[in-house]
Amino acid sequence: MHHTVQLTDSVHWIGVNDRKTHLFENLWPLENGIAYNSYLIDDDHVAVIDTVDHGSSEEYIDKIKSIIGHERKVDYLIINHMEPDHSGAIRALVKEYPDIRIVGNLKTFKIVSAYYGLEENQHEVKKDEELNLGHHRLQFIMTPWVHWPETMMTYDQSDKILFSGDAFGSFGSLDGGIFDDEINFEFYESEMRRYFSNIVGKYSNMVQKAFKKLEGTDIKMVAATHGPIWREDPQKVLSLYDRWSRYETEKGVVVIFGSMYGNTEKMADYIARKLAEEGIKNIRVRDASKTHLSHLINDVWRFRGVILGSSAYNSGLLPTMEHFTTNMEHIGAKNHYLGLFGSYSWNGGGVKKLKEFAENVDWEMVAEPVETKGIPGEDAFRQCGQMARSMAQRLKESE
Ligand SMILES: Cc1cc2nc3c(=O)[nH]c(=O)nc-3n(C[C@H](O)[C@H](O)[C@H](O)COP(=O)(O)O)c2cc1C
Ligand SMILES: [Fe+2]
Ligand SMILES: [Fe+2]
Repeated sequence: MHHTVQLTDSVHWIGVNDRKTHLFENLWPLENGIAYNSYLIDDDHVAVIDTVDHGSSEEYIDKIKSIIGHERKVDYLIINHMEPDHSGAIRALVKEYPDIRIVGNLKTFKIVSAYYGLEENQHEVKKDEELNLGHHRLQFIMTPWVHWPETMMTYDQSDKILFSGDAFGSFGSLDGGIFDDEINFEFYESEMRRYFSNIVGKYSNMVQKAFKKLEGTDIKMVAATHGPIWREDPQKVLSLYDRWSRYETEKGVVVIFGSMYGNTEKMADYIARKLAEEGIKNIRVRDASKTHLSHLINDVWRFRGVILGSSAYNSGLLPTMEHFTTNMEHIGAKNHYLGLFGSYSWNGGGVKKLKEFAENVDWEMVAEPVETKGIPGEDAFRQCGQMARSMAQRLKESE
């Protein structure tokens, strides 16, 4: 017996929580789990929107049957996104309902075929096309590259629900509360930004394009494939994603360092202290050898100030810092002020690589990089203090 969760009289949440998987995409830590949201519209024709991951197929089919019974069938599977966290139960669904029509766009079907070898019962939809389920009339909004090429959104014109796929999604399982008015958002805000910055942020310009396409759409509810469903204040999640995809940042600084023996770390702590003395309240100091890349990216997406330090290691960066800078370049965040520092013993290389990073990402440098030989002395600390003051000044000016 499943207790179903309803968005409206005829729209059901049939998602599942995953608290077992350690790493999402085998990369991003899931300390707080994740939900794979799927939806069922119980109309003259029954439609399911996106599925769940492979491991949850059985529970998923049971949920569907507890709503529509054993006699009725699912007529349509609408695929907004083909990543396996949502397409994993497709085979199980097709096996249970062999006549099900798969609804997607041209790019969807290429991936359906490549992943699951399914070539039949395809129902291709294009922009402005409508699918009538009886009472519910569905529209499809093509939003390519948010964050895969085939991604689209489904809009239910009757109940005014936007089934948005990964856009507006969040890490974190749904622990009892499923709707925005049932949860404490403080927890989800950071998990939502982490999800956005890790998974979608690289495609921020495509998110902005998606927003343009959604202009004028009356959205009463946002139902993404991860995280809470927004029915009380859908505008909140829309404006957060809008801000993040326009690279809007908060007044604050994250200091990220890589340090073997603590020389570079001493400078990080000193800079942080000086920032506090300058009145900056939001300061995070992170050791790149310990804090996962996922959280570092989240911090960078949040704070306008970024200060990076590394010891020299084989004429370059400490590998954990290299891992961070390489990925950060790849993601291409914008709107940051930058400071650099580090320690070396012979030919250097750490700060040199950080300077190359600065050129590649094109963030505004607030002060000359500080590079010290071995243990930082008075001179190095003085320069670090200067960097902190310039950073604080720049942040205050930009308010
Ligand atoms: C494996 C290894 C490689 C290193 N490579 C370099 C190097 O290429 N150039 C350099 O100037 N110092 C190099 N060093 C020295 C460190 O950068 C130096 O001791 C620095 O002060 C360490 O700072 P930390 O305490 O923040 O780690 C290396 C040290 C180690 C252990
Ligand atoms: Fe995805
Ligand atoms: Fe997803």
